[in-house]
Amino acid sequence: MSLLSVSNLIGIKDLLVSDIEEILKTATHFKEVLQRPIKKVPSLRDLTIANLFFENSTRTRVSFELAQKRLGADVINFSASTSSVKKGETLVDTVKNILAMKVDMVVMRHSSPGACVFLSRHVGVPVINAGDGAHEHPTQALLDAYSIKEKTGELKGLNVAIVGDILHSRVALSNIFCLKKLGANVRVCGPPTLIPKHISELGVQVSHHLTETLEWCDVANMLRIQLERQDIKYFPSLREYTMLYGLNGEILNRLRKKIIIMHPGPINRGVEITSEVADGPHSIILDQVENGVAVRMAVMYLLAGKRDNQAN
Ligand code: CP
Repeated sequence: MSLLSVSNLIGIKDLLVSDIEEILKTATHFKEVLQRPIKKVPSLRDLTIANLFFENSTRTRVSFELAQKRLGADVINFSASTSSVKKGETLVDTVKNILAMKVDMVVMRHSSPGACVFLSRHVGVPVINAGDGAHEHPTQALLDAYSIKEKTGELKGLNVAIVGDILHSRVALSNIFCLKKLGANVRVCGPPTLIPKHISELGVQVSHHLTETLEWCDVANMLRIQLERQDIKYFPSLREYTMLYGLNGEILNRLRKKIIIMHPGPINRGVEITSEVADGPHSIILDQVENGVAVRMAVMYLLAGKRDNQAN
């Protein structure tokens, strides 16, 4: 029985503020566990969790698997490219066959928006969305919020800019829901063609000027240009995009204050961000990756409803 108000994690949109606060608080406990010489607790030792990836991933997939192993769960990894999906098996048949082998929780990434909510209606175990098309990527937003809070102490009243390909980004949408629920001021910035028309209805500011946005914000989350989701040309060339929206050391040095730089990865180095910035002192990109394991441990622990002392 989930310790959150939801029994699946499909999107941040569905979470209460108290759910997010509980996840972040529990993640702090698990981050402490991960600093110990033995980085494991037996909280989920009675569970088997399936990671179903129908789309490529490095960070999310490894992070979930590590989080599951740190919690003592048995783990099975499924990759669509080497499975019977290639022979025409449907999503529901694939998952029902895996569940028949007594799997207790499913983590899924899929290229179709809505795939996780669809699946959750057909299976009787918790489903966690690891990214569904351009819809949501809830654990990314939770780890981003955790990483910002870790650096600043507070999200309420903070100015956070999300820069780049907002139109195709599940990270942007989940971050907007999460940051707004936690009281941050959010601005999206990018070329007009990559900003959804009615996005201001979500309570975010819209800007097409990078330097003015950087002067405004305390935190800038630089998003990848998702060429794989772009069926038409949204800007003349990557070179032009970089000239207008790419972040480099010179732009950062001209700012009158120090800001935090984030990126969900994978990075297109030299396009949305230079190596100098990605690897520089303003960047918390690898902190985001590190925190992802603790945050995902917290999500799975709470969804599994493990109110016991095995987390210690
Ligand atoms: N941030 C993120 O989702 O990265 P991957 O696609 O590598 O999982």
